[in-house]
Amino acid sequence: MKKNRNCESGWWVVLLTATLAAPVLGEASAGLFNAKLKQVITSSTLKWNNLKKEAMETYVIGAESPQGPIYLCRARHEGDMLLGQLRPEYTSCAVSGSKSYDVFEVLQNIENASLITWKPWLRFSPKPSGGILVDSSVDSVFIGRAKAESGFSHNIGRIAYDFAIGKLLTFDDKNNEITETQGEILIEVEPVSYKIEDVELDLTTEQVRSSDPEIFGERVLSNVESTAATSTAAIEYEFNYSVSWGHGHGIGIGLNTTIEMADGTIYPQIEWANPFTEKRSKFYNLERYLEPGTACNVTFRGNRTERDVQYTGKLTTYYNDHEPRSRQMRGERTEITLEVEAVYGEIYFIGNNSLVPTTTTTTTTTTTTTTTTAAPTEPTESDKNNIPIEIMQPNQPGEIDSNNLVDSNMDKAQPDKEQNIKNAIVGPLGSKPNDANMRIISLTLFIPVFALLL
Ligand SMILES: *[C@@H]1O[C@H](CO)[C@@H](O)[C@H](O)[C@H]1NC(C)=O
Ligand SMILES: *[C@@H]1O[C@H](CO)[C@@H](O)[C@H](O)[C@H]1NC(C)=O
Ligand SMILES: *[C@@H]1O[C@H](CO)[C@@H](O)[C@H](O)[C@H]1NC(C)=O
Ligand SMILES: *[C@@H]1O[C@H](CO)[C@@H](O)[C@H](O)[C@H]1NC(C)=O
Ligand SMILES: *[C@@H]1O[C@H](CO)[C@@H](O)[C@H](O)[C@H]1NC(C)=O
Ligand SMILES: *[C@@H]1O[C@H](CO)[C@@H](O)[C@H](O)[C@H]1NC(C)=O
Repeated sequence: MKKNRNCESGWWVVLLTATLAAPVLGEASAGLFNAKLKQVITSSTLKWNNLKKEAMETYVIGAESPQGPIYLCRARHEGDMLLGQLRPEYTSCAVSGSKSYDVFEVLQNIENASLITWKPWLRFSPKPSGGILVDSSVDSVFIGRAKAESGFSHNIGRIAYDFAIGKLLTFDDKNNEITETQGEILIEVEPVSYKIEDVELDLTTEQVRSSDPEIFGERVLSNVESTAATSTAAIEYEFNYSVSWGHGHGIGIGLNTTIEMADGTIYPQIEWANPFTEKRSKFYNLERYLEPGTACNVTFRGNRTERDVQYTGKLTTYYNDHEPRSRQMRGERTEITLEVEAVYGEIYFIGNNSLVPTTTTTTTTTTTTTTTTAAPTEPTESDKNNIPIEIMQPNQPGEIDSNNLVDSNMDKAQPDKEQNIKNAIVGPLGSKPNDANMRIISLTLFIPVFALLL
């Protein structure tokens, strides 16, 4: 089928084609006249389609007859695409009082998603914005109808403009050809924005793709003090986060869309079909319980991870001069993010680099420290720097990752503020991050063992 060639700008422009899945032979998006742009744009949901009995209830009704509705059809006649009447029996498209065709297309309002109305029309009315074109390559021929005197409710025909003046060419139930100077013209009302709410993810459809983990940095956690302690360091990293809610679904590309999950979470407004992207900054906390004079190498690494998941929701379309309309929809969300983890090496003696004999083996951990029993010792007075824990919490956008600085045991121990906090003892940057930027926070916590024991 012919595709619309002169649709390029504007708001819901260049919709579709690829979007409402499964292109059928003889399917074409309907063209709409945009008066402001003086251009043809493509409807997101109106289609010219081959006749399919099972799709009849989505066909646009042009008139009523005692035998049933009359639908809008079009067929090629001597090279021109003409608007016709698909009358009961529904086997051929009558384009004039004397001519009808078996090869034709019917105007379909998919999912009843488009708001279409018949607007009063006079010969001198300018070409209306949203006027549905019979052939999207001809921006002067529209769909019209006039009240019938007998038989049908209306006589359907084409409104053809010759410069500023139009005429409605039609024929009645007895196939008499008529030219009218007034009647109605079919338009699609332009949406202005959308809201998708009650969005629920269908996790059974989730698909995850990850790149190979990439090493962003290596750190050494060490304990040069005389008491056993939990050594920690925070790594700040940045990445580009993006989420896309799909395209198509009869939603105008580029129109403002807000998305609200069933649990009340509201996502930042997007322009439909464009992904939302932002630079995210997060902290990741490394921590290891270390005996005096020991250290542990840590590798910080991550994956670019893409998750596709289908969702359902209630789509509401807003218009300037009409009530909003709602319908259920199903779409696919694609989220691209960075997933990170810390890989802790074996603990070794700082003095001679030999491994500390231990029962715990190398672990990859995303959780908390393991505390084993050790003799409580009193902190020295000079160690009481008492920098509050909160200093480790970033007060910039970004969140603390799941593994927090202190586990709940420590929290309970905190009130007496016995923990000692020292300046960082941090190893050199192992590798220059490529996909993520990192910065080590210049603080390391030493939490004496007694603080962990209640
Ligand atoms: C389509 O939507 C209109 C307006 O919301 C409604 O009046 C009409 O009944 C709907 N038609 C179908 C077939 O659902
Ligand atoms: C994020 O995206 C911007 C531009 O799209 C790019 O310049 C930057 O390098 C990206 N940052 C990361 C951490 O990937
Ligand atoms: C979309 O929303 C933004 C911000 O709310 C607004 O500035 C812009 O005009 C809106 N665009 C349209 C087409 O309504
Ligand atoms: C720790 O890292 C250093 C280099 O930074 C390396 O020489 C050493 O072998 C590593 N030790 C362990 C136990 O992985
Ligand atoms: C990277 O992706 C793989 C495969 O999906 C996954 O098993 C692994 O846990 C991911 N690694 C990180 C650091 O997220
Ligand atoms: C390394 O040093 C620690 C104490 O600093 C000691 O206990 C250990 O036996 C030493 N290991 C070797 C192999 O020398």
